[in-house]
Amino acid sequence: MRETAPVYFDEQSGSWHVFRYDDVQRALSEYATFSSHMGGDDASGTGQLFSSSLIATDPPRHRQLRSLVTQAFTPKAVDALSPRIAGLTDELLEGFAVRGSADLIKELAYPLPVIVISELMGIPPQDRERFKRWSDVIVSQTRTGAANEDHTAANVEMTEYFLALIDQRRSRPGQDLISTLLAAEIDGQKLTVPELLGFCALLLVAGNETTTNLIGNAVLCLAENPGTIDRLLREPALIPQAIEEVLRFRSPVQSMYRLTVAETTLGDEVIPAGAPIVAWIGSANRDERQFQRPAEFDVDRGHNRHLAFGHGIHFCLGAPLARLEARIVLEALLSRLPGLSLEPGAHLERMDSTIVYGVKALPVS
Ligand code: HEM
Repeated sequence: MRETAPVYFDEQSGSWHVFRYDDVQRALSEYATFSSHMGGDDASGTGQLFSSSLIATDPPRHRQLRSLVTQAFTPKAVDALSPRIAGLTDELLEGFAVRGSADLIKELAYPLPVIVISELMGIPPQDRERFKRWSDVIVSQTRTGAANEDHTAANVEMTEYFLALIDQRRSRPGQDLISTLLAAEIDGQKLTVPELLGFCALLLVAGNETTTNLIGNAVLCLAENPGTIDRLLREPALIPQAIEEVLRFRSPVQSMYRLTVAETTLGDEVIPAGAPIVAWIGSANRDERQFQRPAEFDVDRGHNRHLAFGHGIHFCLGAPLARLEARIVLEALLSRLPGLSLEPGAHLERMDSTIVYGVKALPVS
């Protein structure tokens, strides 16, 4: 598509699909033209819960909301979590070390980010399992992005859960992020309940599935490139660079949505106001105009300006946390299980989603 129809109108869905790096970067960052506000039941199919969240808000509200949580996610604040993340990684790998085989998604890549963010938000350990079900349903989309019954039910259940949790924190505040958000004020005004719900949903669902897939995709990339494993064993300092290349090569978030607020030109196409846009991050990250030999996984790629975490004012808030978790996991896997490989003949099934990219299970031994 990047060659033949870089900006493509899909009559069936009524959306414009954007494939080249420069166009995707523009759609993601030029908020005055490409709005993130998708209305109630938005075209991304993520529904009401996210519609008042940071990710679906434009300036000036976006800046105000974002300023409330930036402190919790700076690289410095996140670095302080390193010992806990390393301890959790070791615990989660224990069963594997004893048995010699595991589904790495189920035993490590899924639980690790859920536990870390749950602890930051003060979610009780016994409730974590529910998020797996809800977030699986929410990120699984039909090809058209339409919501279905399961999707609606998961949204309702999750909303009820968060409302109860918010009430609880209101009467008994703690040191967690939800209590911080409840106490926060913008120009003397507290956050609205939909805004609070939006934060909870965004942090607990969006950040988890994506980090799970970053870890899973990293293991896949290494399994396909044994030379890289040897290289990283010799030069562990290259691990962060390898993670950036995983983000480019197998982007956990493949596409993001926008809505045009005015007529605009992208590539050779004139797009009217009010048009839904699908910006294909996965395609931009393999654009030969931006990356040399884009179809190659290359840890030596310098200046890796991938768009896996977005671009501009909506640049992923959780990027430092996702990078740290992925680094700690890869360090642990390489140092403790250097011979790790995919089960021979393993059938890898992709997640049912046009947005999130990863595999459902990753059997390794
Ligand atoms: C925004 C990807 C992990 C929280 C974004 C955006 C992308 C993205 C592409 C931009 C959305 C847009 O432009 O509309 C990813 C990937 C991750 C990851 C690939 C893991 C590999 C996380 C984590 C958290 C998180 C761990 C939180 C704990 C957020 C938030 C936003 C966001 C709150 C909205 C920021 C804003 O609108 O200002 N993420 N994310 N993400 N991400 Fe992530």
